[in-house]
Amino acid sequence: MKNMGHFVTFEGGDGSGKSTQVKRLATALKMRDLDVVLTREPGGAPGADEIRKLVLTGEPDRWDVMTETLLMFAARNDHVTRTIKPALAKKKWVICDRFTDSTYAYQGAGGGLERESIRRLESLVLDDFRPDLTLILDIAPDVGLERTKSRRHDETRFEKFNLAFHKRLRDSYLAIARRDPMRCVVIDAAADEKTVAAGIWNAVAERFKLK
Ligand code: TYD
Repeated sequence: MKNMGHFVTFEGGDGSGKSTQVKRLATALKMRDLDVVLTREPGGAPGADEIRKLVLTGEPDRWDVMTETLLMFAARNDHVTRTIKPALAKKKWVICDRFTDSTYAYQGAGGGLERESIRRLESLVLDDFRPDLTLILDIAPDVGLERTKSRRHDETRFEKFNLAFHKRLRDSYLAIARRDPMRCVVIDAAADEKTVAAGIWNAVAERFKLK
């Protein structure tokens, strides 16, 4: 079934300015009187938020990669069922900070789980439900990590991994964009905040024919 609203996801590594840009896009859409639901993964529904706590706290080796992936998909199923699909059915815009591409990047390319295993889980949990548009905020990992260091101290489990891990994440996102060019737009996140926001707005306006 075609999404009735608009489902837009954001992806990117640490320090890509993603959270800021997610909020900026939501604000820009609201200013046009559009109905927007701003959400994020893992989380976005009460049950999924409980799972978020399990998966994002603790030592880096708290979960093996398959368990972690199952937790991500358990949270995603709850989120899609309770929050995303009901909002789309009401013709809302759903703007989501991370979605399944994060699982391919973090648990797949980063954690070493075969892509095929993730693909099978995706197909089981989501069937053919996909975002209408995915914005991939691309930044060199050393620049991104440097930005996060200067900004925050509340590192999640994944930010504790090293530079090589973050390089694999970036390559994975770029490969996803190459494989699925109809859905994905890569945005250069090294530019200043306003320039990045303008690039995002252009991509959204073009995809959904906004004037
Ligand atoms: P969060 O603090 O929300 O980070 P960010 O600002 O980077 O989005 O933490 C979310 C973390 O969860 C992030 O490090 C990526 C990770 N993650 C996965 O590993 N797999 C997934 O499927 C998702 C959705 C997130």
